[in-house]
This record gives sequence, structure tokens and C-alpha cells, in this order.
Amino acid sequence: MHMQASLTASKSNALRGVVRVPGDKSISHRALILGALATGSTKITGLLEGEDVIATAEVLKSLGAAIEKKDDAWIVFGRGVGGLNRSVKELDFGNSGTGARLMMGVIAGQDTRASFTGDASLSGRPMGRVLTPLKLMGLQVEGSSDTLPLTLSGTKDLLPIEYELPVPSAQVKTAVLLAGLHAPGTTCVIENEPTRDHTERMLRHFGAKMTITKVNGQTRICVAGHAELTGNDVAVPGDPSSAAFLAAAALVCEGSDITIEGALVNPTRIGFYITLREMGANLKFENEREENGEPIADIHVISGPLKGVTVPAGRAPSMIDEYPILAVVAAYASGETRMEGLGELRVKESDRLASTLAGLTACGVDAQADGNVLIVRGADSVPGGGHIETHMDHRIAMAFLILGLGAQTSVSIDNASVIATSFPQFAGLMKGLGADIVETGNKPA
Ligand code: S3P
Repeated sequence: MHMQASLTASKSNALRGVVRVPGDKSISHRALILGALATGSTKITGLLEGEDVIATAEVLKSLGAAIEKKDDAWIVFGRGVGGLNRSVKELDFGNSGTGARLMMGVIAGQDTRASFTGDASLSGRPMGRVLTPLKLMGLQVEGSSDTLPLTLSGTKDLLPIEYELPVPSAQVKTAVLLAGLHAPGTTCVIENEPTRDHTERMLRHFGAKMTITKVNGQTRICVAGHAELTGNDVAVPGDPSSAAFLAAAALVCEGSDITIEGALVNPTRIGFYITLREMGANLKFENEREENGEPIADIHVISGPLKGVTVPAGRAPSMIDEYPILAVVAAYASGETRMEGLGELRVKESDRLASTLAGLTACGVDAQADGNVLIVRGADSVPGGGHIETHMDHRIAMAFLILGLGAQTSVSIDNASVIATSFPQFAGLMKGLGADIVETGNKPA
């Protein structure tokens, strides 16, 4: 029988402290990939050393980029746009949709054939959304499947395209822009709702020629092809999606006062924090500054009463990874919280709408899903007591441990190892703030 590590979270006293969270996952993937496509070297500090990002580093190494850790920095020796080798091994992306989808855009522009694989969660996620535009550009896909494992053949003769995103996805946008670096002419992506813009910011930082125009609510993002990128230093800010669990914990545990230093507060990523403020949270961005073209701040959270709110669908792209933890916070707020426009949650590391609802129900929270809307009714006292099925989803694992910190009865999760995909230090950091989270030995999977 396969055994998996379990964690249990129990009602905790006030959390206090000043901490940093690991580097932003999206920026970490992009720094490695653009470093590998640049000429010269790229020095990355603060890289997230989570399993997802390490998988991308390993893939880039197997395609010929030299990547090494020296003291606290990661150095990438780039191969230039179009300069990657053929890999003798399969490209294994583990749990990471970002790594797999972004690298499809890169492979599209190499004169090479590559096999993409991943774990059971990733193998169930749709790749068609990325393959559709890349096929228009000239990528060849063997077979008719749109899930991993997949074998793809790129080409030196890619065509530039103009592509309107049918779903608000930064991964799709990025895959097309990365392919566009390899094509002649100009490749443009049009988005109807703004999604995280780290690729655009970092491409500029590496010297790509970008034009970004906003017309009638649409954004048209164009990159000049046959690009020459120059290696550059990147300091990765703290991940606001990881910081979200700490901020939520401070709101769940009475008397808390915590500060998360050096977190990314890019406007395309802060929907969760805007929502917490609307719920009445005492939450401030302090010491706001800019590094490497990205805005950062120290996030200061003091616990206090919260009220339910309606979160509009238009906010979803700026907090897409934060709905499980927002639903947990909503369980502790007075009244009803309505989260609208959650269709994209169904194609994350798990069907997050279903797994969030199941976890809430297992913990005695009054919640329901109505199509793509999740409704949570908060209470003064949250029963807890659930043993949560994480479905290989790190954010479900962390969200329900936070729920346990305020609940009447402890909450445990079936598989704590998935947390390492994005936040390996999670349990240690939480304990350091005063949270009662303990390893509960191994439970049968
Ligand atoms: C990401 C984009 C989002 C997000 C994921 C990281 C990225 O996915 O959920 O964790 O780095 O571009 P979608 O683009 O599928 O919305």
C-alpha cells in the first residue's frame, strides 16, 4: 500500500511575526525560460525552489541550457532564441500546468521533436487551449489527444499570428508570445480580460520589442519575432498566492498581527487582497516599491471581524488561484459570500470548484455551488473535523489546513507532499507564526 504524509491543523492562538514567503511561481518559471532563450547569463535570486519550478529547470537542462545554483542565486546560461537542443529524454513537468504549457510555446519554435509528460493531475488537464494557437503557427502534434502524454514537433518556420484568447489564461497568452519570439514578423495576443502580465514585463526586461495597446477594454499585446533576448538579472518577489494562505490564517486566528515582507502586488494578482478589504479586513500594503519592473510591498494583516461579499466574475483572473482560500475565509465571515465566474477553477490542479465545495462540506460549512458560482455562508463557529481529499492539489491542501486553525475540531489532509509543488516551507513557516500544525504520521493513500 502506498503511504502518504499527512498534516493536521488545530485551533490556534494568535499568530504573530514578520515573515517572507518563497518566490513567485509564475515569475520563477518565466525567469528560467527567458534566461534559457537569451544570450549570455541570467542571475535569478529568490527563485521558488518548489517542485514545479525545479521540473522546468530540469526540462531546460535536458534541452541544453546550463543552469546551476551558486550561493543563493541560480545562474542560467542561455542558448539564444531557437537555440535549444533535442532532448533524449521525455520532458517531465510533474504537477505543473504552467511549465508544460509555457514550454509548448518554446518547443513550437525549435527544430525538434519532444515528448511531454506529467503526473496524474497534469495528465487530466486540457492542453488544447495552448495547442490550438500553436498549431496555427506551425506546431505539429502527434495523435489527436489534447492531454499529456503528448509528442510535439516544432519548426524553424513558424508563422506569426494574431490570436484572441477564448479563455482568460496567462498561460495561453505566454505560450503564444514565446512561440512568437521565434517566428518572423509580429505575433499578437488579444485579451478581453487582463491576466497576469509577468511575461510582458519580463520580455521587456530581456530586451524584446513589445507593443501593448488598450482599445475598448481589450488589450493587444504584440512581440517582434526573430527576437534577440539578452540575459539579465531577476530578483523574484514573494508569491502573493502563497502569502494569501498566511494572510487568511491571520484573519482566522483571533488576535493575530503578521507582516509578509517583499510580496508581489502586481495589479493583475491582487484580487484576493482587494476582496479581503471589502470584507472588512484590516490589511495594508506597506512600504510599496518597485523591483525589476514589478511592484512589491509588505502585506500587514491584523485579525478582526469580516462580512460576506459578492466577488464579481471580472475579478476572477486576478485571484484565480485564491478561491479555495477565499472560500475558507468566507466560512469565518458573517453572512453570505458569493463568488461568481469560477468556470476556470474546474481545470486547475484539481476541479477546484468541486474540491473546495467538498472540503467545506466535510468541515460542516454551509456552502453550495450553482453553475459557476460558489456560495459560502459563514458562521461564528466553524465545526471542522474533516479529513480532506486534496486530489493532488497543493492549494486545496493548504486552504483546508488554514480552515483547521480556527475550527472547533482539527482538520487533516490526505496528502501533504503536494504542498511542495509551490510552497515547500509552508508548514514550518506557519508553525513559526504560532499555528498548531502537526505531522500526523502516514496514512494509507
Ligand atoms: C499561471 C496562470 C494561471 C494560474 C497558474 C499560473 C501563469 O493559469 O492559475 O497557477 O503562471 O501563467 P491560467 O493561465 O490557466 O489561468
